[in-house]
Amino acid sequence: MKALVLAGGTGSRLRPFSHTTPKQLIPVANKPVLFHGLEALAAVGITEIGVIVNAGATAVRTAVGDGSAFGVDVTYVPQDEPRGLAHCVLIARDFLGDDDFVMYLGDNVFAEGVGEPVARFREGRPAAQLVLVKVADPTGYGVAELDSEGRVVGMEEKPARPRSDLAVTGAYVFSPLIHEAVRSIRPSRRGELEITDAVRWLVERKHDVRAQVCVGYWKDTGKVGDLLDCNRALLENVVPAVHGAVDAASRIGPSVLVEPGATVTGSRIDGPAIIGAGSTVRGSDVGPYTSIGAHCLVENAGIEDSILLDRSSVRGVRSVRGSLIGRNAGVRRGARGPRAHRLVVGDDSSVEVPA
Ligand code: TTP
Repeated sequence: MKALVLAGGTGSRLRPFSHTTPKQLIPVANKPVLFHGLEALAAVGITEIGVIVNAGATAVRTAVGDGSAFGVDVTYVPQDEPRGLAHCVLIARDFLGDDDFVMYLGDNVFAEGVGEPVARFREGRPAAQLVLVKVADPTGYGVAELDSEGRVVGMEEKPARPRSDLAVTGAYVFSPLIHEAVRSIRPSRRGELEITDAVRWLVERKHDVRAQVCVGYWKDTGKVGDLLDCNRALLENVVPAVHGAVDAASRIGPSVLVEPGATVTGSRIDGPAIIGAGSTVRGSDVGPYTSIGAHCLVENAGIEDSILLDRSSVRGVRSVRGSLIGRNAGVRRGARGPRAHRLVVGDDSSVEVPA
């Protein structure tokens, strides 16, 4: 079995981050979202992985390399434009050959991995095996309708009147029958080749399409709130350790990982939290649910429920919460008095300040 990981796309809902970094490389619990996926695929014994990347973009190739760091062999498949999930299958035909494969959306995180759908697929060898989650409002998702035995009998993309509350997540296991399906469908109204249409093509031709409801935590990290949610969930499993230097005046709670070269002085770190390699935390309260990247500076600050990317800094600000702070970005107390906010905010950014 092979895997096809989708790491192209536009990432419009994650601007401004996605202007400079593919959204799949934004870290949660100090590891790029995409790496969580590659590790999940390696964990089920898949070694041949095709990765869809935007043509001309190099960041994913640089970060993932030949895949050897994950124990896998990566083949890159460039996509000229984001033309839809089914388009990715179409252009990966040569790489996929006639093998079964897991199609994995590179911005999705499954805390329990993909062992369950892969095992179910291997047992029954259907044409396709989907992973579903129950959601309160299915209108923004691909929605599957099941019969009493777990067979998929209907599929709709973002239906106004959903027939079930079961949304399709970003892990699919396909037999080679999917190739005929993606060749047969036409672009949707938004101009994309939709994988839901390809799966519906299989269902309508009475091929066996199965689904199971996801066990464990799942998140599509398409928006900032999703990244923070995912960060909270993955930090619950952080393996606590202090590899850096912590002075006697600091208090480190349980579920805290202090990475090598990090320095914590006169601070309180409430787990779950990670202080990244080479970062400095001084006179601050950090956590819970905070991931501080590498080589950051947190000084006289209070940060909770947030992600700081590498080389960012927060100084003299005591109430940072629910925030995502980009690489090399700085947040600091101003010199213009408590009533003034001086904002230098890049395109497509969003800032919330007290009234
Ligand atoms: P989406 O999140 O559906 O699409 P997007 O990246 O264009 O995001 P946005 O709506 O915020 O603009 O894509 C799911 C995953 O599949 C994601 O990892 C990007 C990837 N993808 C491709 O690689 N090629 C494509 O043509 C599309 C549509 C998505």
